[in-house]
Amino acid sequence: MLDIITGMQFGDEGKGRIVHNLALTGKYFAGARAQGGNNAGHTVVHDGEIYKLHLLPAPVLLGKKGYLGRAMVLDLDVLMQEIHSLQKRDLTLDLLIDPRAHVIMPWHKDLDVLNEAKNGDYAAGSTGRGIGPCYASKHERTGIRVTDFFYDNERVNILLEEYTRKVNFLSGGMRFDSIHQKYVSQIAETRSKVTFLEKYFGDVSQGIATDLSLARNILGECAQAEMLDVDGPYYPRGTSSGTSAVGFWNGIGVGPTRESLGFVIGVTKAYTTRVGKGPFVTEIEGDLAQALREKGGEYGTTTGRARRVGWLDIPMLKHALVPSGITHLALTKLDILGGMETFLIAEHYEDGDIIPSLGYEQVKPVYRTMVGWPAFSEEEYKRQFEHGVDYIPHGALRWFLQTLENHLERPIGMISFGQSSSAFVSYL
Ligand code: IMP
Ligand code: MG
Repeated sequence: MLDIITGMQFGDEGKGRIVHNLALTGKYFAGARAQGGNNAGHTVVHDGEIYKLHLLPAPVLLGKKGYLGRAMVLDLDVLMQEIHSLQKRDLTLDLLIDPRAHVIMPWHKDLDVLNEAKNGDYAAGSTGRGIGPCYASKHERTGIRVTDFFYDNERVNILLEEYTRKVNFLSGGMRFDSIHQKYVSQIAETRSKVTFLEKYFGDVSQGIATDLSLARNILGECAQAEMLDVDGPYYPRGTSSGTSAVGFWNGIGVGPTRESLGFVIGVTKAYTTRVGKGPFVTEIEGDLAQALREKGGEYGTTTGRARRVGWLDIPMLKHALVPSGITHLALTKLDILGGMETFLIAEHYEDGDIIPSLGYEQVKPVYRTMVGWPAFSEEEYKRQFEHGVDYIPHGALRWFLQTLENHLERPIGMISFGQSSSAFVSYL
């Protein structure tokens, strides 16, 4: 079966960590990524060491097979660095990369910067990795797939001319030669470094379909999150791919069947964070925000930017249930709220309890004050979680978790309450 992990907020919910804990159970034959690129950043603590992954699925850290699906956009230099850095740490990698995935070309990175400047107030605060322009090229059919990069020089050269003209035009029209020269040498350098990637290419759709037919379990990681889905309520400030479980199936190129559909686990922090620009209706400012940011280590894995922090937004989580068909919740960073006398959750909005289809920007959250619980140690949390959410001894802690389950009508399947992989409980 395929189990899918998806973020229910603005990303950075701790999906990498949940994936890692699940992979440790031994249930899975492989891990898969399907969309997005190195805008994603998954931090995984394994054997006391910190790994920051941008492209490879986290189960490769445990020696599992890793699939990179066809709807990903790949910066080949970054991919290679990531492979090398894991090999240096003595990991043997068993990868299959779908050559239909698109390559982030040097012009995509330039266009990312130019577009963001041009978009002004509507800019997303992109990670600057060329993700949006690469997906734009793909859909405009002027993209370069991994397979073209290796086997179709002519197409690369034609597009090199075309995109040099475009970038030159957008940056004042006087620099065609220098831009052209820069791209030629960057592409040559990438080519000289990445030839060895070829051995990893193969049909990911067929590979996963075969695994599933042999009853091998696959663990799928959606990158980014529901709010950032290109078809979601946050457009145009989100990312450029389909980030929900639906996007995941599309991205690996396999259709769900009754036999292959496993859990879909929606991951949410106990509060909300946002890295990037745009509306954030439950945002907190000032000292409290700074304290939460520090305690939660809320700095971007990919860009190092300070994340904006805010209260948990129940309607946002309700929105996420639908596009992904979420079956279970995973709650992360619970310990960060521990020790607060009170805290808030947005239970609904003034005009309803879901994000209206006309947009998230105008909604006004209605808060409920929650009583806090002490700053429990890892052991104290563990003891309390032993028998399930309904048996937690501390009333305030139980009340918070039950409130979530009641609003979302899904059970909490996993909780994390500290950085180490042992600060974790699963009821699945
Ligand atoms: P892009 O995906 O780099 O184009 O960025 C578009 C928006 O999505 C920006 O607001 C980014 O900050 C946000 N974003 C993209 N990837 C991630 C992620 O993995 N975690 C959190 N935010 C992300
Ligand atoms: Mg991240």
